[in-house]
Amino acid sequence: MSKSLQELLKSRRTYYALQAQSPISDDAVAELLKSALWNLPSPFNSQSSRFVLLLGQEHTALWQIVKDALKAKVPADAFPKTEAKIDGSFASGYATVLFFEDRTVVEGLQKSFPSYADNFPVWSQQTSGLHQFAVWLLLEEAGFGVSLQHYNPLIDDAVKKRWNLPAGWQLIAQMPFGVPAEEPGAKEHLPLEERFKVFR
Ligand SMILES: Cc1cc2nc3c(=O)[nH]c(=O)nc-3n(C[C@H](O)[C@H](O)[C@H](O)COP(=O)(O)O)c2cc1C
Repeated sequence: MSKSLQELLKSRRTYYALQAQSPISDDAVAELLKSALWNLPSPFNSQSSRFVLLLGQEHTALWQIVKDALKAKVPADAFPKTEAKIDGSFASGYATVLFFEDRTVVEGLQKSFPSYADNFPVWSQQTSGLHQFAVWLLLEEAGFGVSLQHYNPLIDDAVKKRWNLPAGWQLIAQMPFGVPAEEPGAKEHLPLEERFKVFR
């Protein structure tokens, strides 16, 4: 039986240790992503979010791009640890979703509605966050372990070039996923009294 939304919220965690296996077909994964794109809210219904699903060797190619970019940046003696982290977690997963926001849509809104011009980039990030969270939950529900990574802007140019993506697509986040290899540890929580007020 599928989990309730409450149960899903509780079980969704960051999973670093992943196996390159999938409990569902690639087409079913693609359908989950399409359902998020189709149903999620966006400012002025602008639908600025874009996803790229990288499977198999394309997933591997992404994490090679990340490693190449980091190799050029981190000190040589620190790189083996960095590489081991990427190989042991993100690259070892089944696939990765890339989240983009289409800057041409955001800039179009700024031109059409100048009085909101400063808000549109912020709202674009917010709708991306909603999309990321929905996909995280949908993948969790399907039996995947998921994490959220941010190697942008370091990898932006190489990613756009490799997959020939439109110039206006701004990379926001990378979401590697796979069947969990181990469960995450316990998480610390700030007291709810500091974070929630109710007035009645
Ligand atoms: C907006 C946002 C950005 C995050 N960026 C990263 C990241 O770049 N790398 C990473 O390993 N985890 C990242 N995380 C995951 C958080 O570290 C993680 O959600 C948090 O520690 C709570 O753990 P949990 O996901 O297991 O509940 C991010 C989470 C959010 C919401």
